[in-house]
Amino acid sequence: MTWLITGGAGYIGAHVARAMTDAGERVLVLDDLSAGHPARLPSGIPLVEGSSLDGDLLKRVLAEHAVTGVVHLAARKQVGESVAQPTRYYRENVGGLTTLLETVAEAGIKRFVFSSSAAVYGNPDVDLITEDTGCAPVNPYGETKLAGEWLVRAAGRAHGIATVCLRYFNVAGAAAPELADTGVFNIVPMVFDRLTRDEAPRIFGDDYPTPDGTCIRDYIHVADLAEAHLAAARRLTAADASGDLTVNIGRGEGVSVRELITVIGEITGDRRPAVVEARRPGDAPRAVASAALAAEELGWTARRGVREMVESAWQGWLLHHGG
Ligand SMILES: NC(=O)c1ccc[n+]([C@@H]2O[C@H](COP(=O)([O-])OP(=O)(O)OC[C@H]3O[C@@H](n4cnc5c(N)ncnc54)[C@H](O)[C@@H]3O)[C@@H](O)[C@H]2O)c1
Repeated sequence: MTWLITGGAGYIGAHVARAMTDAGERVLVLDDLSAGHPARLPSGIPLVEGSSLDGDLLKRVLAEHAVTGVVHLAARKQVGESVAQPTRYYRENVGGLTTLLETVAEAGIKRFVFSSSAAVYGNPDVDLITEDTGCAPVNPYGETKLAGEWLVRAAGRAHGIATVCLRYFNVAGAAAPELADTGVFNIVPMVFDRLTRDEAPRIFGDDYPTPDGTCIRDYIHVADLAEAHLAAARRLTAADASGDLTVNIGRGEGVSVRELITVIGEITGDRRPAVVEARRPGDAPRAVASAALAAEELGWTARRGVREMVESAWQGWLLHHGG
């Protein structure tokens, strides 16, 4: 097997590339480096600099490297940006996927893993989100992920490609400091950023119908997430692999914003109290995965907890931002 990992120089993709290489898989990476860093890749992994929108390049890469499976992570991922620039998000996320699937089908590749997101669900009012919970994304980013899933499943059926769509919940942490998320878009780096600027962490709303009034999320260590990709790849490598699987990747445990900020305070040693600000529009009170299907279908369960996520993310923050 040779796996093409698109977006493999990104935060999650580099973890996937490393986990798959460590497990003995042959991988190569395609990344346009718009948000990725080549230094994240373990030595020896070929990197092709280019876009998933470039069909001719994809065709060449698939043929030259005799690719037999694809893990597609390349995408734009900022919710706010997707609201401001919806056409760009549809063009790059859905358009890039369309081009990729066309070349994959043409090349006769039969295995495909797609990075989806809990954003496909929108804000369902349920205790645990199962894969049967209705999808109603509340922003263009989530829409591109849901449209992407439809496309992956339809192309899979039409061309006999076995597919897995992984719906990631809230990703955090790093397997090594140099692999850490360098963006400041998610809650853990956002709190680190505030502390580094000598400012109090912010909580957006403490009057939600949750035990401590703050929003509850399901945080997943990126190293566990990378292992989920490996499990998906292994499932697709089985001789009788066929059909499609769409599965949540979370821990099945809710952690409130206040609880997370307390852990961050303990690990950074900066326990200044958070300031409470107004709710942000579109934030659901609770979004926690049912992790049962992933255990059943992929034989995968997250092993790392929130403390490990925050500790490893902090080491990465210190490396990249000089703390
Ligand atoms: N980080 C999260 O919390 C999270 C949650 C759910 C889903 N996801 C999804 O996981 C995937 C990876 O996210 P990430 O956090 O590693 O983001 P990231 O921005 O670090 O990585 C994305 C990588 O893709 C590359 N890229 C973007 N568009 C490209 C294109 N058209 N062609 C080639 N390369 C391209 C970027 O240069 C970058 O290296 C994305 O599909 C994202 O939507 C992320």
